[in-house]
Amino acid sequence: MKLIVEKNAMEVSRKLILRILDIMNEEPSRNYSIALSGGSTPAQLFDLWSSEYKQETDWDRILFFWVDERCVPPTHSDSNYGMTKKILLDKVPIAEAQVFRLQGEADPVLEAARYTDLVRDKLQVKNGVPIFDIVLLGAGDDGHTSSIFPGQEELLTTTAPYAACYNPYNGQKRLALTGQPLINANLTIFLITGQNKSTVVLDMYKSGDTGPAAYVAHHAKQVELYIDKAAAIEL
Ligand code: 6PG
Repeated sequence: MKLIVEKNAMEVSRKLILRILDIMNEEPSRNYSIALSGGSTPAQLFDLWSSEYKQETDWDRILFFWVDERCVPPTHSDSNYGMTKKILLDKVPIAEAQVFRLQGEADPVLEAARYTDLVRDKLQVKNGVPIFDIVLLGAGDDGHTSSIFPGQEELLTTTAPYAACYNPYNGQKRLALTGQPLINANLTIFLITGQNKSTVVLDMYKSGDTGPAAYVAHHAKQVELYIDKAAAIEL
């Protein structure tokens, strides 16, 4: 597990963008599949990416997918796609054909199946597991990642790449990329900032059995933790 600590959220987001650009430069003639998470942490990353690094990025070679989505329409304030569209997609020259939205407005079970078929069609598949080049994850202060919450650990080992699930705190239905694609990505990246995440970061760094984020961090083929000093305070 590679740990990158920067003084604040902006600087660790910058480091992460530069890492993605470096990866894309390793094989300059191919597309890269990047699965995005939602929540508030990536918003700063997307803002920086669409402003300071818009020119440096070869948007023609990125295929955007989603790690998870709330089961709401794309115009809803909870929509991960809606947030990403507003802060990133509407501000950069990426074709709609390269953006594969998880349809939060659809029937969750049917959409999990549809999107599973879609990623299996678009990506390399190993033993039934779709392999993303980069999976960008956050972590909740309860230790969840994607939309896999503590107590839902069966989603970490299921053979279904995407699952219909729910947020246990408010019952909100969700769609989530499950454990096997999360850990088998070519690179699994966590972006975690803020002192309220410091205990989760400690758990993730120390052990692999204290929740979904820690499990993914400890079982992923290749994992990098991008955190700010506030989130690193207990290390
Ligand atoms: C979501 C995210 C989720 C997120 C964590 C952290 O849909 O909510 O995919 O897994 O990464 O909840 O969220 P914050 O960045 O808002 O702390």
